[in-house]
Parts: sequence; C-alpha cells; structure tokens
Amino acid sequence: MSINYSELIPNNVDLSSDRRLQRALEAWQPNYLQWWRDMGPEGSLGYDVYLRTAISTDSNGWANFGHVKMPEYRWGIFLADREADRTIGFGDEKGKPVWQEVPGEHRSTLRRLIVTQGDTEPASVEQQRLLGRTAPSLYDLRNLFQINVEEGRHLWAMVYLLHAYFGRDGREEAEELLHRHSGDPDKPRILGAFNEKTPDWLSFFMFTYFTDRDGKYQLASLAESGFDPLARSCRFMLTEEAHHMFVGETGVGRIVQRTCDLMREHKTDDVRALGGIDLPTLQRYLNFHFSVSLDLFGQEASTNAANYYTAGIKGRYLETRIEDDHQLVGASYDIMSPASGTIVARPVPALSALNERLRQDYIDDCAKGVLRWNKIIERAGIAFELTIPHRAFHRRIGAFADVHVSPDGRVIADAEWKANVDKWLPSETDQTYVRSLMGPAVTEPGKYANWIAAPGRGINNQAADFEYVRFN
Ligand SMILES: [Fe+2]
Ligand SMILES: [Fe+2]
Repeated sequence: MSINYSELIPNNVDLSSDRRLQRALEAWQPNYLQWWRDMGPEGSLGYDVYLRTAISTDSNGWANFGHVKMPEYRWGIFLADREADRTIGFGDEKGKPVWQEVPGEHRSTLRRLIVTQGDTEPASVEQQRLLGRTAPSLYDLRNLFQINVEEGRHLWAMVYLLHAYFGRDGREEAEELLHRHSGDPDKPRILGAFNEKTPDWLSFFMFTYFTDRDGKYQLASLAESGFDPLARSCRFMLTEEAHHMFVGETGVGRIVQRTCDLMREHKTDDVRALGGIDLPTLQRYLNFHFSVSLDLFGQEASTNAANYYTAGIKGRYLETRIEDDHQLVGASYDIMSPASGTIVARPVPALSALNERLRQDYIDDCAKGVLRWNKIIERAGIAFELTIPHRAFHRRIGAFADVHVSPDGRVIADAEWKANVDKWLPSETDQTYVRSLMGPAVTEPGKYANWIAAPGRGINNQAADFEYVRFN
C-alpha cells in the first residue's frame, strides 16, 4: 500500500477520514519536532543528509534516497498491509478473528507494552545525540542520522496506536513519551539500558548490533499480536530495524578489519600504539553490550509473559512457523538457574518460559554476526576468536542477578570476579583509550578515521567519495 505524502502527516492509514484523530496527531506533531530540536542529533538542524524515505510499506518500498534536512524528514504513520481474514495465531483465542479494536480486558496490558516499546525509540536518539561530533566518516555520520530518524518514526508508530486506540490516557502517554529523557534523574526512560550513555562509536556499533537486535525480537513477538494494528505497525518497523543491525554488524566488522590490517602490516599485537582498537578490547565491549541486552528480555520464568501469550497479545518469534499446538498448555521448557555453586537446567511450564525462549532465539541470532567477524580475523591469519559470553555472565535481571558468573559459564566467588573483571568488561583504561580515539568528526568525503576500515560499498551503491552529509 503506498504512502500518502500530500498530507501534513504522511500515512497509509487514511488518516484524513478520521478528523478527530488527525487533529490530535497534528497537535502532537509540533511537540515532537520541538523534542527533535532539543534532544535529537546535536547541531544537525541545517545539515543536508542523504536519507532514504519509505514510499510504500513492502520491502521494496525503500527506493527513495535524497539529501534532506532532518527536521524536514517526512515522519509519519506506516502500517504493513492488512492481511485478509487474519486470525489469532496462539493462546486461548487461537483461530478467532484478530482484534481491530482493543479488547477492554487487555486495555491496560496493551497500553503498557506499547508505551514501553515506544519509550525505547526516542531514548536511543537521546543516547546517541553527541556522536556526530566524533563521526569517523561522512558515511558513518549518515548511517547514524538514518537510524535516528527511523527511531523517531518508531515513536510515531507507537504514538499513533496510543492516540487511535486508547483515548485520553493514550494521548497523555504520548505526551509523556516526549517528557521522559534518557539519563534524566527526575524523569528517566523506562528501561535501564536506555538510560546509559552511548559515549563513543565502538559503543554505538555494539549497541546497534546487540541492543537494536533486542528490539527486533520484541517487535517480532508483537508482530504476532492478536491486536492487528499493533501487529501491522511492528511488521513495518522490522523492515526499518534491519538497517540498524546492518550498521552495527558492518561497523564492528570494519573495526575488526582495520585492527587485523594494522596487526599484519606492522607485525604486532600492540595496535594501541598504532591508534587501533585491539581485539581483546573488542571482546570486552562485546561482553558488556551482549549481557546488558540479555537483561532486556526480563525474568527467565515470568507469569506476565505467560499471560500475554495465553491472551493472544504477544507471541513467540516467528510463531506461525513453529509446529506445535500454539497453546503450550502442559508443555515444558528448560531454563537455567544457579544451584549450589553451579548452573543447572530445570524444566518449567513452557508458558512461563517464553522470555527465556525469546532470549535463546536472540542469542542464536547474535552468534551469526560473531561468526562473520571471526571470518575476517581468520582471513587475516590471526589466531584469535571473538566469542559470545555465557548467558549468565554479568546479568542484573533474572536468576543470575545475584551471582558472579565467568564468561565461560562458571559460578565464581567475589574474589575471582574482582581479579578478572577488567579482563572481561571494558575497564576505565579501555574506555578512556577508546574515547581518546574519537577525534573531531572526519568530514572529508571518502576519508575514514584511523581505527576503522572503509565499508565494502556505499549506501545505495554511491561512489567511495560521495558527500553523504553537507554541512552548509
Ligand atoms: Fe526502533
Ligand atoms: Fe533500531
């Protein structure tokens, strides 16, 4: 379905047929733009940025590239096409028609899920707002801005649902989404990981690889929802999300490449002397971002997750492709927990283990990119392997929150943790070093900071020296 760009708010939901809703969203729009000016990418209001804009909501709808000033980006409301005769795919109401309105008994649950998802979107823009100062190239700066405008659009997606389906409290929640801010001591964002700073580009690439991927799994399970407008919103958001993870995977990959190049060229492991980022430091950043992202999936055993599923609100990853009864009554699933100094697996009802199952899907997916990074190292003939740490390592939420676990999955005493933590997680020294590499933004087309390789190809196949951002 094509998107109508002739209206003040671009949309493919026939917004003009609902005057009240249209007026309410048009009243929210200036507040959103004010938020973008105050909290969006610092100093960027006048830049012309080579951005893609969706023209339709199928996966080929991304053909539209051009230089745009970000405050003029056409944010709007795009839902994936409606599937005729779609039925609820799981839970107690499996097989019944999906809901086009919010069922009264699920109203507060759905509102909370939508607000929580919506809150992460502007939060990441806020976390990343200073990165433009130190961009390693115009290519990377453009990718940062593309992600930022799309996270802004994801906020629009959730705000539309709140306005269209939740009446007055929905409108109030939509305002609050602009009033909470990442790291604000009085009004922080809802989830802990979204109140941390993204202080440097290595953290940014790790964040887009690991934390945006958590977003992918949350969106994918909401894309199964029996509440059809939510499912359709999330389906389209997933097509945008894919680019964010691409930026993360290729960003880390290009750092790995540059590090390997420096090691080979100078026949040394000491790449810090050459202004590169050594592989053990990359491993420690990986350990950190992976473990904090795992926490976002919540408790291993969760009655909330069971209730969401039974009610038809939040499904499993690719629910419709799983071959079972999609109700899970009586089924069991193994979850891990610490027991007398070791980690044991124990079966629990599959319904209560849905967070853990989603976490497992996520872990399997994370491992794929790490394999590709290792291929780069292998091709360089260097004996080093990046690894995903054990799921119990460095957790703050769930069964492992109160124990120390090594990256290889041993429950260890405080003393062993303290003696090794600087080998396992970014130390002060690592962070200071990585930040020291973040020089003034590299603004010459085709040039890259010393610690990262050029990408294999340009965005939309542009030439190597393409001017992705014009500063005016
Ligand atoms: Fe997003
Ligand atoms: Fe994202």
